[in-house]
Amino acid sequence: MNYPPHVKLIDVGPRDGLQNEKQTVPTAVKIDLVHRLQAAGLKEIEVTSFVSPKWVPQMADNAQVMAGITRQPGVRYSVLTPNLKGLEAALALPRAAWPDEIVVFGAASEAFSQKNINCSISESIERFAPVVLAAHAAGIAVRGAMSCTVGCPYEGEIAPERVEMLARLMKGIGVQRVDVADTIGVGTPLKVQRALEAALKHFDIDHISGHFHDTYGLALANTLAALQMGVWNFQSSVAGLGGCPYAKGATGNVASEDVVYLLHGMGIDTGIDLDKLIDAGQFISDFLQRPTNSRAGKAMFNKRCG
Ligand code: HMG
Ligand code: MG
Repeated sequence: MNYPPHVKLIDVGPRDGLQNEKQTVPTAVKIDLVHRLQAAGLKEIEVTSFVSPKWVPQMADNAQVMAGITRQPGVRYSVLTPNLKGLEAALALPRAAWPDEIVVFGAASEAFSQKNINCSISESIERFAPVVLAAHAAGIAVRGAMSCTVGCPYEGEIAPERVEMLARLMKGIGVQRVDVADTIGVGTPLKVQRALEAALKHFDIDHISGHFHDTYGLALANTLAALQMGVWNFQSSVAGLGGCPYAKGATGNVASEDVVYLLHGMGIDTGIDLDKLIDAGQFISDFLQRPTNSRAGKAMFNKRCG
């Protein structure tokens, strides 16, 4: 089996990880988390989202977080922008605080699209189109997150044809790369491979990433299945934080520490210092006053203490 020699992780902990937290996480803690992730060697970090604070109150300090981080050269900082209002808010910041990449986020399920962003799939594409154009005009890259590519909390199983359709629509408006997301973590390896194959009809392997939540404990198996197809971009969340407020019962993303442990164990380079990443996971878990969801994080932390 030929595995990619190098994998790039986007840590979505500060955004996907924290957006569902009930307790308000202070801006300074979010900024500290971003700093710890970049110190651990992460080259891509999803920092926050410019969404309605009524819908996702935890992300209301988006501008302060973006303005507060000390950037490290070579690191790409991304934010979610569901509409022009979100992009305009991000661009109202001083240029040095602009995101390097924005993320428009749609779904392969109509019901999830309605619950998450209050519009149908086709309406969402109409909304995203001017956002993509404006981002490109400002020199900002555009990623498209595709939710519910294997299962939906409202519609159940999702056919690969729906993923193919969404990928085609995203490509049509100028999205440069897409995330194939298992939002509620119900995917199993072959189903995830079908979803990735559907996205590959419109984006090449370098422009596809896997975004797997770990509700049923199969996110690492799904990561391995994606690696076997040559996928080398993945999203994960430090300490396995996360969940979507509009995907009830779904747990966090696969833990970044666990993915790094898997990859390094397979001889795949990530450029990430696992010890420092575990420290970052410990930092945010301590703040949230609960144990990390990362199995590798737990094991290595216990070994250190032992
Ligand atoms: P809407 O209510 O249909 O929008 O929400 P609207 O245009 O009618 O505006 C209503 C109000 O929201 C107005 O304020 C707007 O100004 C305000 P009011 O007049 O009532 O005071 N508003 C905004 N405020 C700040 N920033 C904005 C913005 N837009 C409107 N950008 C909207 C539509 C998309 C805004 C709303 O549904 C929303 O914010 N949804 C949040 C969805 C979200 O963040 N979900 C979680 C992230 S997605 C995810 O986790 C999945 C992912 O991880 C992949 C996976 O796992 O599947 C990416
Ligand atoms: Mg997610």
